[in-house]
Formats: sequence, structure tokens, C-alpha cells
Amino acid sequence: MTGAGVLVVGASQAGVQLAVSLREHGHDGPITLVGAEPRPPYQRPPLSKAYLGGAADPASLELRDQAFYANKRIDLLPAERVTHIRQFPSGCGTALTDQGRALEFDRVALTVGARARRLTVPGSDLTGVCYLRDLADAALLRHHLTPARHVVVVGGGFIGLEVAAVARSEGRNVTVVEAAPRLMTRAVAPVVSEFYRRAHARRGAEVLLGAQVTRIEGEHGRVTGVRLADGTRLPADLVVAGVGVVPRTELAEQLGLLCDGGIVVDEFARTSDPSIVAAGDCTVLPNPLTGEGRVRLESMPNAIAQARVAAATLAGKPQPYADVPWFWSDQYDLKLQIAGVADGYDQVVVRGDPDGEAFSALYYRGGALLAVNAVNRTADYLVIRKALAKGTPLPADLAARADVPLKDLLVATPAP
Ligand code: APR
Repeated sequence: MTGAGVLVVGASQAGVQLAVSLREHGHDGPITLVGAEPRPPYQRPPLSKAYLGGAADPASLELRDQAFYANKRIDLLPAERVTHIRQFPSGCGTALTDQGRALEFDRVALTVGARARRLTVPGSDLTGVCYLRDLADAALLRHHLTPARHVVVVGGGFIGLEVAAVARSEGRNVTVVEAAPRLMTRAVAPVVSEFYRRAHARRGAEVLLGAQVTRIEGEHGRVTGVRLADGTRLPADLVVAGVGVVPRTELAEQLGLLCDGGIVVDEFARTSDPSIVAAGDCTVLPNPLTGEGRVRLESMPNAIAQARVAAATLAGKPQPYADVPWFWSDQYDLKLQIAGVADGYDQVVVRGDPDGEAFSALYYRGGALLAVNAVNRTADYLVIRKALAKGTPLPADLAARADVPLKDLLVATPAP
């Protein structure tokens, strides 16, 4: 140990939580939190919701104020990107930033997140082609959204659909172009995808499935339309692409760490070099509920939970990841709440009536509950999140009885 302390690379939700949790674990040495973005760390989920809708300003999104970092002796370095990193066999090392600074460390944590995947079709560089990942993206998108009449959203995942909902709620013409045969494929079952297609259509947004964008058309450097593979031309003065994210693995690769669609970590947030931890959207981790396989949990709750785990590991008090993953998406007046991980499900039970815009989809494998998607049914979500945390069984044949509160359907776990 050189006394240089812990370097946390990436100053967003996971990085801040990791630094704070380290202090809570009694780590007394220096903590440096370095981040490329110019603003102090802020919440990302509202960017595609309240911020884009004009109901939140940047200052209200800040995670902590300056005094908090000073008080915790967390040395926050904004507007500085680590470009090179190397570690010596002792575990100590040096990181170099784009500002020419060398940051020494005894231990390093990677909380570097993910970047928005970019469109590559001709015309992708026209003014009016926007993304939504960070505050700068959101500010630019808001700027272009205000005068826009025709908005084309490329990608019918969470980001695309949340942006579509805001734009449509403002009365703009909105078309969602999704390459897959259904919406939100990565996260929900077909019954939920179909519900959202209809819900957007009912509110006047057009949703095109199985549609390929071949080019973005423009005049004088500005977007004017989107051309699809079947020849359709959609007029557009704004194109928003929400086509997924790419975890930032460059620094992990420089350190020789195992990466496989993200930085591979175990349930203690340890990378393939156990002296280095990683947390948040940049990682792939064992499924927290089953311990099997590897999942990427792109969510703020995971960033917090995993950062706590990583801090405990760094502090020498390892605690395995034990939280039930959860996630939410707000589109119009529809609140989607997800708990658990549905990967590998073989049965979906629907409670309630999708046409009434309040229902839940429960995912099972071999009769065991894996996850829930609740739409405007917070009570179902809360019960299932708790049941997943405790491992309380909820038989599939009973779950469909929407007239009986879910909590009354839980099978009492026999006392040990
Ligand atoms: N054209 C049309 N659709 C595409 C294309 C394309 N060229 N490429 C990908 N898609 C679609 C995918 O089929 C998918 O439905 O874009 C969608 C991307 O959805 P997500 O993977 O959910 O990613 P995104 O919506 O960008 O959200 C990124 O940000 O807020 C977080 O947690 C959220 O994990 C999510 C992340």
C-alpha cells in the first residue's frame, strides 16, 4: 500500500454509492472519484421521464451536494476521463486522465457504465439525430424536441418508448420503428409487448414492428426523414435512437480483465483479478436469484446494490449480492414495475385485464416464480418482490385469480 487510497473510475450512481459505502465500512484512507461528465453526479432515470417532460431541472437531479463529498472526504474530479490504466503486481497502480493527470491508487474500482449504441446507417450524423444516455444528450434532445412536429423513434425498448410517450403527450406526431417483431423484447414477455404496442397506438403513436431503417434523409445538414427497407419514407424533423447500450470495457481490457458483453464479476463484485472490483451497467454478473449464468442488469437499483457489494469486498468484509433486481418504466400514465429476472421462463401467468390497463405478468420456470411485470398494479409488484426476496412460493395455478389479493395466495413457508 502506498497510501494513495482507492480510485473509483466513473462518477455516476454506482461510483458515488461505492465511495459512500466504503466510508460506511470504515475505510479511512483517500477516496478519489473521477468522472468524465462535467456536472456533479446525478440521477439518470428521470432524464427520459421528468427531465425530458420539463418537470425536473438538472440541479434537482444531483445525487449529492458539494458539501456532502467534502464531508465524506471523497475527492470528486468531474470533467476528467481516465484513458489509460495500469496495475503493478502489488495491486497498486496508476491511471492517466485526458487532462494529463496521473492518479496513483492502492486499489481501483471500475464503475464506468455503458454508452448508447449509435446508428450506423447513412445520414446518422445529420443534425437532429439524437440519443439519450446522459444529461448532455437529454439537453440536446429537449432542444430539438421543442420545435419538432414529426418525431421518429428508432428502437422500441425502454428509452425509445419513454421518449415516444413524452413526445406524443406533447402532441407531436410520433412513429416508433422497432427492428424486432415486438417491443421491449429484452425485458418482457410477448403479452406485455403486445399490451404496450396497443397502449401506444391508442394514444396516437404509430408503432412499426420488424422494420429496418436503411437511411436517414436530410437537407442542409438537418434531418428531414427516415427511409425504411420496404421503401416507406417517414417524415421527421427529429430522430431519437434508443437501440441499446454498449458496456465500457476498454479500461478493464487494458487491465487484462475478463470481459464478455461487460466486465465479468462474481457475486462479490470481484473481476477476474480479485483485487479489482466493478459495479453497475459496465458489468455482467451471476443471476442474483439463481446464481446461474451471467446477466447484465442495466438499472439504477442494480448500480446501488452492486456498488454496496463492491465496497464491502474492498473493505475486506465480503457479502454476496442478495438483492432482488428491480426496474421500472413510466410511459404516459402507465407504470411498469419489474422485479426478478425472467431469463429462462417457461410459463407466464397473467393477472388482471390488459385491456383495462392494469395487469401483472408472472414468470415461472418449472413451477418456480422468477419475476413479475406489473402494469399499474403496484400491490402485485410489492408482494412478488418480497416473495422473491424470501423465496416464498406462489403457485402458478393460484396466481391468475385476480380477484384474490396476491398476498393471500402466498404459500406459507413452513417454520424451520
Ligand atoms: N432499428 C430498430 N430497432 C433497433 C435497432 C435498429 N437498428 N437496433 C436495436 N433495436 C431495438 C432492439 O430490438 C430493442 O428493442 O432497440 C431496442 C433497444 O432496447 P433496450 O435494449 O431496452 O435499450 P434502450 O431502450 O436503448 O435502453 C438502454 O437505458 O434506461 C436504460 O435501463 C435502460 O437498459 C436500458 C438502457
